[in-house]
Amino acid sequence: MAYFLNSSIGKKFLVSLSGLFLISFLFVHLTANSMILFDSSGELFNRTAHFMATNPIIRVVEPILAIGFILHILYTVILTIQNWMARPIGYHKQQRAFSSTWSSRNMIWLGLVILAFLIIHIANFFWKVKFTGDPLLGKVDYDGVEMENTYHLVTTFFIQWWWIVAVYVIGAVALGFHLTHAFWAAFQTLGWSDNCWRKRLNALGLVISIIIAGGFAIIPLWVKIASMI
Ligand code: HEM
Repeated sequence: MAYFLNSSIGKKFLVSLSGLFLISFLFVHLTANSMILFDSSGELFNRTAHFMATNPIIRVVEPILAIGFILHILYTVILTIQNWMARPIGYHKQQRAFSSTWSSRNMIWLGLVILAFLIIHIANFFWKVKFTGDPLLGKVDYDGVEMENTYHLVTTFFIQWWWIVAVYVIGAVALGFHLTHAFWAAFQTLGWSDNCWRKRLNALGLVISIIIAGGFAIIPLWVKIASMI
């Protein structure tokens, strides 16, 4: 087992499995965040955030999610460095452009943009909700249940600073491009893709990328634009 995980294919296997797990997290996270769009009083989003923060199943999944992120980032960086060292001269640029997509050639850079986004994002929201608190995070009471006003924290960030909105849109677009290649490539690494399925998985990956990128980008833009009209 240790030998397998140390081998290049073992690492790719882990990157693919953790990547598919992270995609499923993104769908749950996007669904929860989209509640911001449907209720400008914030109650729907606050109730959803409270449910996510207190649900025992989600609490068990949270550390697994953190491990998934760490494994995915660590192993992709190791694999990329190993690839660079094994092929120091690189392919001729034109030849590479002909045989691969822009996303597939820039996966590591897209990943690093997403990582930068994630650090800003965790510091802005998760860290404050979970550990430090924030003056913007008042308490609200719905039917006698007290919970944090996460809606106020999130929307104030988007309304006050255009650069935060820009960071979220750039993060979402980078995530979309990353997923156009990552989705079918993960299935291929896991051995679940042949020529016929590759086309289908490619198309499905494109649809997933558009939903994830579009969904995450629309939320900050919507909040900001709605505050101006
Ligand atoms: C419109 C965009 C987004 C909004 C409004 C948003 C909102 C939030 C909030 C409020 C939290 C804290 C939840 C809590 O602890 O109660 C959170 C946590 C988190 N977000 Fe986001 N998020 C967005 C996009 C993203 C994206 C694109 C990613 C991944 C690339 C992401 C990854 C995470 C992770 C890993 C956590 C910590 C785990 C968790 O609390 O579930 N988020 N997000």
